[in-house]
Amino acid sequence: MCGIIGYIGSKRALPIVIKALERLEYRGYDSIGVLVYDQDKKIVYLEKQPGRIQEFVKTAQLDKEGNLAIGHTRWATHGGVTKANAHPHWDCANKIFVVHNGIIENFQVIKNSLVEKGHKFRSETDTEVIPHLIEEFLKRGLEYKEAVGQSLKIVKGSFALLIFNSDYPQLLVGARFSGPLILGVGDNEFIFASDPTPISLIAKNVIYLDDGEVVFVDKGGSEAKASYTIESFLGHEVAVKKGVIDFEIKEADKGDFPDFMIKEIFEEPLALGNTLRGRLILQEGRTKLGGLEMIEKKLRQIEKVVMVACGTASYAALVGEYFFEEYAEITTEVDLASEFRYRKPIINDKTLVVAISQSGETADTLAAVKEAKEKGALTIGVVNVVGSTIARTVDAGIYSHAGSEFAVASTKAFTTQIADLVLLMIFLARDYSEYDISGNSARYSEYDISGNSARYNPERKSKERKMSLVMGRRILEELNQIPKKMRVVFEDAEKIKALAEKYARCKNFLYLGRKYNFPVALEGALKLKEVSYIHAEACPAGEMKHGPIALIDENFPSLVLAPEDSVYEKTVSNIQEIKARKGKVIAVTTAGNQDLEKLVDDVIYIPKTLEMLTPLLSVIPLHLFAYYLAKKLGRDVDRPRNLAKSVTVE
Ligand code: AGP
Ligand code: GLU
Repeated sequence: MCGIIGYIGSKRALPIVIKALERLEYRGYDSIGVLVYDQDKKIVYLEKQPGRIQEFVKTAQLDKEGNLAIGHTRWATHGGVTKANAHPHWDCANKIFVVHNGIIENFQVIKNSLVEKGHKFRSETDTEVIPHLIEEFLKRGLEYKEAVGQSLKIVKGSFALLIFNSDYPQLLVGARFSGPLILGVGDNEFIFASDPTPISLIAKNVIYLDDGEVVFVDKGGSEAKASYTIESFLGHEVAVKKGVIDFEIKEADKGDFPDFMIKEIFEEPLALGNTLRGRLILQEGRTKLGGLEMIEKKLRQIEKVVMVACGTASYAALVGEYFFEEYAEITTEVDLASEFRYRKPIINDKTLVVAISQSGETADTLAAVKEAKEKGALTIGVVNVVGSTIARTVDAGIYSHAGSEFAVASTKAFTTQIADLVLLMIFLARDYSEYDISGNSARYSEYDISGNSARYNPERKSKERKMSLVMGRRILEELNQIPKKMRVVFEDAEKIKALAEKYARCKNFLYLGRKYNFPVALEGALKLKEVSYIHAEACPAGEMKHGPIALIDENFPSLVLAPEDSVYEKTVSNIQEIKARKGKVIAVTTAGNQDLEKLVDDVIYIPKTLEMLTPLLSVIPLHLFAYYLAKKLGRDVDRPRNLAKSVTVE
């Protein structure tokens, strides 16, 4: 699920592949493997082992010659984390080598039949069926390309893979179905990679492969030029898809920070500023979203919004659900992408499906997008990685512009996703043709800083979707202030660090919040789990008394999000309930509110803002808390165990 690299050209391939794998490291993995082919000696050099690249380079023979190499970082799905299960995998005759990201769902059936035919397997992986299957077709007399094509037709599931056959040493084959794979085209040299990050080592020109496509890269003879051909193993037409990496790909660089996670948390204000840049028309209280212009007419006709996402992105979606319904008055649902299709969702051409994903490669979210498209819905992406599969699959999109996120735990992606959703909501809610410069005619005649102002105008026609100029302007002006206000929260970083250290011995945490801050509680708990391995669960504060309160005692602290908003008093009552049971409480509240000091054990303050925007501030202390607590416990915060950055299997 994690990383694939392949190089074919005239340079020494191994150092390029190792460097490229290092660039993919942020995706998270448990084993590493490489294959190099030395054309002169006609030998294959193979090395693989569990663990990190840093250990690998200490033991591997990196001086190997050869202008062709493939490399792999594995995130085990089938079979333990062992040397035998690390990739590449190969056939009985030691000729056909494969690296694979994804899952071959029907591997057991294929394996059984190959074993019956005498094939000997060396690993427990699903992947190993591929080289044996190709070998089997070759035995039956098929040409190599045909054997590859037939094998790809048979395997089901998700895959990005590279195939090398030492009988065809000038050829490197790449194929994909629901797994990410890109081909970089350089000057007589080619590089395959799972994402654009390593491509720029070699090339600016990229080919984004589509599902069902296989590409044969031919190095050519001493005279001939290198070339490639793309075919479809599913028989569809192959579209021309030359692209250029015209966006900046930052090298993974921690700067002065000890870890990517803390760097990325501190980058949240900057990232948010980039999300907003050029998109706010403050005077007119509306947003300019270039990516949506071509579908604007259709957008104006939608009657329902469905957001699909996983993990942290799904919590950003939940925040969006509240303000889409409150301010744009559009029925909005959030679905965990992995469950979306099982619900048999009722969607049609008046439904807008918004897919939210940092990586743009999450298999569950991609599958949800495909399902939505099949049902005729209009799809848009809120995606961070430019050119990623989801970004290319949706009808239109709004990039998050968070910059590269290298830590496995998503932080700046969360806040920029929420900001993107605010921009989208305003895009939908404001009626451009009819906005009233006085701001009087629309349904929100007034507003106040707490944001409890979505006053319903009973005279408004039911289908009319109109947010006043005043309200549009108010939200955008306040959104524009958020980066500055985030920086104010960072002034308390040392205090939050001390708090995290104080609570570092607790084994469980409860995170609570209401309304806009319920999704923030979910995000805070997920972050703590991911990086510190401490159990944390989140629930709506009002739901606590229906069960989770049974957990509360003096050793089970609660982190309660209690900004001064429309549900503040109710949240305070929940805090009282915890205190009555001797539970410790850390509260996050609005600056200037002294009331909680006496009631709770510790308080963290965030600046005042509109209620709907509080998640952008209240999440910062939770991101910091998770980070500092994990550090106190000596965890590898950037690469937490068992997790991958890009989850490309369903
Ligand atoms: C967040 O910290 C997680 N590692 C994870 O939940 C992530 O948000 C989820 O896998 C979705 O990823 P995406 O945004 O790349 O689609
Ligand atoms: N399913 C394969 C395995 O478990 C590939 C995993 C991956 O994507 O890294 O080896």
